[in-house]
Amino acid sequence: MSSDQFHLNFSLMSPGHYRAAWRLAGADPHAYLDADHYVRLAKLAEEAGIDAVFQGDSPALGPEIATGTSGGLDGFTLLAMIAGATERIGLLPTVSTTYSTPYSLARRFQSLDHLTKGRAALNVVTTGNPAAAANFGVSAHPDRDARYRRAHEFLEVITRLWEAWEPGTIIADKATGQFGDPSRIHAIDHHGEFFDVAGPLPVPTSPQVRPVISQAGETPAGLELAARYADVVFAAGHTVAKAKASRDDIRARAQAHGRDADSIKYSLGLIVLVGTDEEDAKRRHDELNATLPPLEYLVSAVLSSLGLPADAFGPDDVIRLEDVPAEPNLKAFSVGMYNNTRAVLAEGPRRLRELVAHTAGIGTHRLVVGSPERIADDLESWWRQGAADGFTVMFADTRVDLERFATLVVPILKERGLFHREYPEGTLRDRLGLPVPGLQPAGRRLAASPA
Ligand SMILES: Cc1cc2nc3c(=O)[nH]c(=O)nc-3n(C[C@H](O)[C@H](O)[C@H](O)COP(=O)(O)O)c2cc1C
Repeated sequence: MSSDQFHLNFSLMSPGHYRAAWRLAGADPHAYLDADHYVRLAKLAEEAGIDAVFQGDSPALGPEIATGTSGGLDGFTLLAMIAGATERIGLLPTVSTTYSTPYSLARRFQSLDHLTKGRAALNVVTTGNPAAAANFGVSAHPDRDARYRRAHEFLEVITRLWEAWEPGTIIADKATGQFGDPSRIHAIDHHGEFFDVAGPLPVPTSPQVRPVISQAGETPAGLELAARYADVVFAAGHTVAKAKASRDDIRARAQAHGRDADSIKYSLGLIVLVGTDEEDAKRRHDELNATLPPLEYLVSAVLSSLGLPADAFGPDDVIRLEDVPAEPNLKAFSVGMYNNTRAVLAEGPRRLRELVAHTAGIGTHRLVVGSPERIADDLESWWRQGAADGFTVMFADTRVDLERFATLVVPILKERGLFHREYPEGTLRDRLGLPVPGLQPAGRRLAASPA
């Protein structure tokens, strides 16, 4: 990716960010478990040249299963299956540093990187849902501070494991019979607060050396984790001003760690609802809105995320920035949601129903509804204002909107020179213009060590 173009990742979340889109005519309610459904989507994404396909993580079933899917498939398994059906596209599942162990996770991603010739990536989260604890034999969900301490140690361990084999370790000399050179493989002998890991992995250094690391989490501790280890920050932003400030912040933090600011890519999430034209977009928007829970419920969810009583305001009441507690509720799923709603209110008072409409009442990210041109204009405008290095595109109704974005919006972006026309050569890391942190030149294997 040259710096005059942006990257695009696609979320495969199904049926979509409108979780009850399974109710629409033509939708198969069971598609979210169907390999053919995902392969179709991944192939459409690959034909459009999309950098990576992405899947979030929910390691606990929630009450929302009563009305729609609740996370569903394990992302690594899903994307490893898609790896076999595609050739170029990157594979970006979300994994929890709180509820995984670093040795097995490092091995799985290094294996995936070999088997896909350098297409593996991982989105690390600390897991916001406290219900996960009971599934992993943990007495209580660790507090945010402990989760991020563990995340730092986790990433230190996996990156050291990935780099523990020197180049040239596999000799494979048929004449002498020497296959590997054990003197070039190093234990990591890690002993820390959370983990004791001897290493090394049984897998050689993979094509990317480090599979691409993305991070999602917007508290200062999350941003510090990203600044130290991540190649990509997956973020939610509801105003240009807030997204730009967050991107500037993460770039400055990376520089404070001795990194080049351009070595960390700010990937802004947005949900798209793509109409064939404006009228079609409006019609589908109405249709999808009819699948949402009652407005009063959505309003109470927004109020809770702001730390306000669920009945503090009605849908037509106006809320101002001064009405919102000055500090986030640190027990909330993500402080990012609180920050974003504050950013919207900083631009002026809003009726509660407008705040709900901002995210389609369906979560953390901004919803953009319109014709292909309107959506292309939106991305271009945010990118030109310095609010993003690229976008993680999520879909209102993935079955319909992923295809429309790939076939109607991406060609406009290519025509405008904003997105690559063909996949650039190399690994996912090379394509995104990412160096291996601490190693030069960008994206190459470690320099050969002296004999
Ligand atoms: C853009 C974004 C996406 C996220 N995706 C997930 C996810 O897929 N699964 C999950 O368990 N948590 C997810 N989280 C929440 C993280 O677990 C997060 O690390 C934790 O709640 C703390 O978030 P905070 O630093 O923003 O407060 C996400 C957070 C953000 C900001």
